[in-house]
Amino acid sequence: MTTPIYYVNDVPHVGSAYTTVNADGLARWHRLLGDDTFFLTGTDEHGLKIQRAADENGLTPQEQADQTSERFKEAWKLLDISYDDFIRTTEPRHRVAVQQLLQEIYDNGDIELETYEGPYCVSCEGYYAESDLIDGVLCPIHLRPVETLSEENYFFKLSRYEQPLLDWYAAHPDFVQPDSKRNEAIGLIKGGLRDISITRTSLDWGVPVPWADGHVFYVWYDALINYATAVGYGSEPERFEQWWPHVHHLIGKDILRFHCVYWPAMLLSAGIEPLPHINVHGFLLVGGEKISKSGQKLTAITPAELVDEFGVDPLRYHLLRHTPLGADGEFSFEAITERYNADLANNLGNLLSRVATVVGSKCDGVGPAPSPASPLAAVAAEVYGAVAAAWDAISPSDALDATWRLIRETNAALEAAEPWKADPGPEVDAVLGDALEVLRIVSILASPALPTAPAEVWRRIGLPGRPAEQRLPHAAEWGGYPGRLPVEKGPPLFPRKK
Ligand code: ME8
Ligand code: MG
Repeated sequence: MTTPIYYVNDVPHVGSAYTTVNADGLARWHRLLGDDTFFLTGTDEHGLKIQRAADENGLTPQEQADQTSERFKEAWKLLDISYDDFIRTTEPRHRVAVQQLLQEIYDNGDIELETYEGPYCVSCEGYYAESDLIDGVLCPIHLRPVETLSEENYFFKLSRYEQPLLDWYAAHPDFVQPDSKRNEAIGLIKGGLRDISITRTSLDWGVPVPWADGHVFYVWYDALINYATAVGYGSEPERFEQWWPHVHHLIGKDILRFHCVYWPAMLLSAGIEPLPHINVHGFLLVGGEKISKSGQKLTAITPAELVDEFGVDPLRYHLLRHTPLGADGEFSFEAITERYNADLANNLGNLLSRVATVVGSKCDGVGPAPSPASPLAAVAAEVYGAVAAAWDAISPSDALDATWRLIRETNAALEAAEPWKADPGPEVDAVLGDALEVLRIVSILASPALPTAPAEVWRRIGLPGRPAEQRLPHAAEWGGYPGRLPVEKGPPLFPRKK
């Protein structure tokens, strides 16, 4: 599982957190299934954009990269991102991989020297066709004026790959998901592919081109290769062979063209089978505008402030639950507050506190076992099926929605049975045992989203170990809560927010 590697011109924001938390949820889900999982993130540190940010800050590009990649690591630590590797494109292992992969393409005859002049967006680090520009002068993504650049560059003969790419897409219907984004990629290919400039002579902050002095690779053709570097390309061929056929990229729609068109063409040219899956998501917006590093909106909400205000689990839950992957979505304080109160305080938090309170008053604080024939057993089985299918379809939002159905139905069952009004006895025990079993199952199913709270639920209902150590599907089967465990009524897990 990979995220994009983020530019180090500026610090992380809620947009980069959105991708990274979703990828983290997916990685954690696969660990619960017992799959071998390798989760990669990192930073993109070369190119003109970084050079200019460094100049503005009075730093060398290396200092700029060192300081800002550290800020990404801090943010990901704060958000409990369980990455296995954090790649930086300035690392020696990456330089080796970039030079080897592009040399391979050069040796295959797909890289040639040509002169190029055209409109260039420094924020995108990419050339545009005149016809792509807004009002003839603005970058369509950043809405900033483009610059005209002219260089003698090495070009990748992308035009040769129209048909091979279309064949690849036809043979691999799941290559790019969702379908709308797959169609967009196919549309770009069918619209005609022009050769692309992949080297620069106008700056030296990049990986040197091994066959031509004075040229460095253009940042995107260095950056894309990070995914190969991190699983051993250029250093550990066996490791690369093992992981590459299972790589899954999660990216935002702003970088679809690079990942879904240029990257598979480069891989085909280098004689490497393209990776199997790319999932493309939409933008988080604030007041209808994309949150971006260069924009004003970014500084208005940082991940750290949101963690201070809501906590790590609620922020992660909101990012995963509120904006399904694929669509654009508004990010707002109002929405996160509302969801916090509805789903976390009133549903999950309330279920735990009522069950713990009534176990305290009616069962001497000892949790009863669930009943095998509980109607909730069938709901739990259905919910597990829906949760597993949703993660499988790269839909964390649906997975959480399904999980919360089990919580809601259990709260409804408690409200119908009213064990707090009944006399202690087998009926009360059965209702509470079932609710405890739901808390056990929900703790496991919610753990990819919430790294902290489910472990606390687990502890309070007396279970040993941690939810994240359980193995699915077995651990989600009804009847795992053994009963006769001490249940602790602690403070509210998610105190209500105003
Ligand atoms: O493009 N909503 O880096 P980048 C959702 N270095 N996701 C957002 C977002 C928003 N408002 N803003 C950013 C680069 N993202 C290159 C990538 S990969 C080989 C090189 C997320 O720092 C989203 O995943 O501009 C988007 O694709 C990525 O950050 C762009 O990060
Ligand atoms: Mg960007």
